[in-house]
Amino acid sequence: MALPRARFIFVFVVTVVLLYMILVYYDQPVSNIQYGVQVEQGEDGVVCRDCNKYCYTSPYGKKMVPLDGDKLRQIGCEQRLPQALIIGVKKSGTTALKHFVSFHPQIASPVDEVHFFDNRYFMGMDWYISQMPYALKNQTVLEKTPRYFVWADAPDRVRKDLASDVRMIVVLRDPIGRAVSDFVHIQFKRHLQEVADNGGKPVKQVVLPLTPELKKKREKQKISDERNNKAIGSSMYEVTESFEDSVIDADGNVKGENSLIDTGIYVKYLRRWYEKFPRDQILVMDGIDLIKNPCKAMKSVEDFLGLQPHFTEKHFYFDPVKHFYCLALPVKACMSASKGRTHPEVSQEVTDKLRNFYKPFDRELEELTGQRFSWVERD
Ligand code: A3P
Repeated sequence: MALPRARFIFVFVVTVVLLYMILVYYDQPVSNIQYGVQVEQGEDGVVCRDCNKYCYTSPYGKKMVPLDGDKLRQIGCEQRLPQALIIGVKKSGTTALKHFVSFHPQIASPVDEVHFFDNRYFMGMDWYISQMPYALKNQTVLEKTPRYFVWADAPDRVRKDLASDVRMIVVLRDPIGRAVSDFVHIQFKRHLQEVADNGGKPVKQVVLPLTPELKKKREKQKISDERNNKAIGSSMYEVTESFEDSVIDADGNVKGENSLIDTGIYVKYLRRWYEKFPRDQILVMDGIDLIKNPCKAMKSVEDFLGLQPHFTEKHFYFDPVKHFYCLALPVKACMSASKGRTHPEVSQEVTDKLRNFYKPFDRELEELTGQRFSWVERD
């Protein structure tokens, strides 16, 4: 009788000790979280040096839980208007740029495109701020919405609502490659919509908290946006089954008014931004630099945004499967499958027509910026 009892006590004690050890272990300050970034022990548990990417507490053992708003504010984090924007251009490498730069410790960036200065302006400034990540005082809040570049009212709105020293980054790419990429992207989105319409996976949609008053404002803004965008020729997409038919009309001329093509007339849009902002507040990047030498490209961004030097060659590696550079540190991360898609082949005849169409605009662009771009042919 005594033996089973002693065995029971032994098992009980061992179990309690084990449970205690597990609890103590899980309650330790977490020194390395998923991105491998050092966090510190604060009065209130585990506190991180960065409000968003790495700010986690550990009330339930190793399961990381983002700090809530009150806790974030207590440690000096706040939501505020962006000090920098990536304003475009769609399909030129804007996501790769944002992906890389958001790993800089002094950058805080919303996960998704906010689209405030284009079609969600009616939502108001408080809503815009609420979409921003929590950031420390010494961090730069950076928002990316590529459509700002071509949106008629965006330069005025940014000028009016953000600090006068706001910095903007524009990534440009060979306009022909950009147009093909845009075409593939639109076809893909159509395909997803068709699948959804036939009972497949629903398309992800952002649901805005719309009151009746906001709905009215939205309708009003839609009318003026449509009118103003039409006046400058942006946001008029015409996409058929083939790229060639989408960009060349029945008479063999380039459909310059189609947004697939018009978006690539960079000089037209850049001029509108230059009218509202000093040139040194707008960094114009050649997308090929991001593809060929992301470290150098990120150094130019650090410099432009006044950030401490952070990126080194070690932060990037060329991924042989993705065929692009990916992030190596603090976590290995490539762009999603939606970036780096296969492009349809474009005939030489159409390529030549497009090249000739863009030539005068590209020359003007080089004159305007005083920069040379990789795709512009030299005579
Ligand atoms: P494709 O998908 O047509 O190749 P955006 O993010 O502005 O929509 O741009 C998408 C483009 O970014 C891609 O177009 C690709 O060419 C380019 N890009 C630049 N750097 C990249 C990277 N490291 N990984 C994936 N795509 C990258």
